[in-house]
Amino acid sequence: MDTDFVARQQSRLLGELSDFLAIPSVSALPAHAADCRRAAEWLRAELSRLGCPAVQLIEGDGHPVVWAEGPAVPGRPTLLIYGHYDVQPPDPLDEWTSPPFEPTVRDGRLYARGAADDKGQVFCLLKAYEATLDADRRPPLNVHFIFEGEEECGGHVISDLLRAEPERTRADAALVCDMSYYAPGWPAVYTALRGLCYAEISVRTLERDLHSGTYGGVAPNAIETLVRILAGLKDESGEILIPKLYKSVEPPSKEELRVWKKLPFDKADFLRDEVTGQALTGRKEYSIFERVWALPTFEIHGIKGGFVGEGAKTVIPAQATAKVSLRLVPGQDYAKVGRLLERAVAALAPRWADVKVTLLHGGDPVQVDVDHPAFALLDEAFASVTGRKAVRVRAGGSIPIIPELGLTGAPVLLSGIGLPDDGLHSPNEKLDLAQLWSGIEIFGRFYELLAERGGPTAPPPA
Ligand code: BES
Ligand code: MN
Repeated sequence: MDTDFVARQQSRLLGELSDFLAIPSVSALPAHAADCRRAAEWLRAELSRLGCPAVQLIEGDGHPVVWAEGPAVPGRPTLLIYGHYDVQPPDPLDEWTSPPFEPTVRDGRLYARGAADDKGQVFCLLKAYEATLDADRRPPLNVHFIFEGEEECGGHVISDLLRAEPERTRADAALVCDMSYYAPGWPAVYTALRGLCYAEISVRTLERDLHSGTYGGVAPNAIETLVRILAGLKDESGEILIPKLYKSVEPPSKEELRVWKKLPFDKADFLRDEVTGQALTGRKEYSIFERVWALPTFEIHGIKGGFVGEGAKTVIPAQATAKVSLRLVPGQDYAKVGRLLERAVAALAPRWADVKVTLLHGGDPVQVDVDHPAFALLDEAFASVTGRKAVRVRAGGSIPIIPELGLTGAPVLLSGIGLPDDGLHSPNEKLDLAQLWSGIEIFGRFYELLAERGGPTAPPPA
């Protein structure tokens, strides 16, 4: 690998990443569909520059998947690289110090929506690949790239593609860089991700909004009905009250619990610097790691209905909706949890309300067996640059397509170069440039180790 690559090209690299980040590829907002396509096109051009002979934009009913294969390197293993080019909506805009799509460096950190989640990390893997090209621009191993544009919004273009063409996941290893270090100086690989079941609950109690004086006292209020239902789904101790929800939850292994106990962790710092609240909530009988990594959650994301304009309007709302989701842990299945949620809501609904649950999207939890030899190679790459192997932790977040990446048996390496304070999905999301520069070296090193010792070669596609 060209170890001076970063030192010599920092300003070019920063310029390229800034161009990529300046494209507002917000997948959830229809107004940004053309921007999502521009981000896919940016990747297409970049992959062509890197020497991939035929880059494909694969269409479906949503934003395209970008697929590319580096030049074939016979006799060498195949690495599948996954990432996503879409980003979360940037609001609240007035909380950003610099605008979300005007990438800005302050104090060695690059601020922009997508800087860490996931464009900056996709960029890191691409530049690591570039750094390993030889004088004839040949890579050390076979690399297949798959980038989606709907990770953040629950689209299914990529899952439709992999269902129709599972051989695309045939590889000796799959690498996903959409996560963070456990802490500065502590690289991580992930043994599990939580799944997700996202739904909307809507309530109608009246044909139309009513005068709250004339009818207050007798007319059923849709918002009140909704919040009573929501309150019935979780108690103050943090226990979710959906019947049978915890039945299939598999507790973390003894080994995982042993490793978690030894991780550096300061509850007061965590509360102040990351959570930014006044107290931690949730099931006190479990450790914080168990609560964020190994237990399901129920969250209310937003409630709509009634009067929220300026001033005061006296009205009994006829209609109200809430967006909610559950995070799921190994042992749970999102289709089943969706049915449990529907049943629990139906049981809580009073007879005078029409209550509907619409399942919007989701994904199953993942558990990764980190004993495959590819993980030792990743450890070696991390150790050679940071002096420390990757700690085995879990993530509370979700990446719905991950279970499908491992379908043909490739070990799925979940890792990343982010830091816990990157502010994913929040205002002022950032990526520390030192993490990017060292990340390019780490993953370049990993590609080379895998090329040398990561066989056997995958069978050719059927
Ligand atoms: N990169 C995150 C997932 C993540 C977050 C992994 C934190 C590890 C730690 C990913 O882009 C993400 O945000 N996923 C969404 C998926 C959802 C919209 C289906 C999530 O977890 O909310
Ligand atoms: Mn995300």
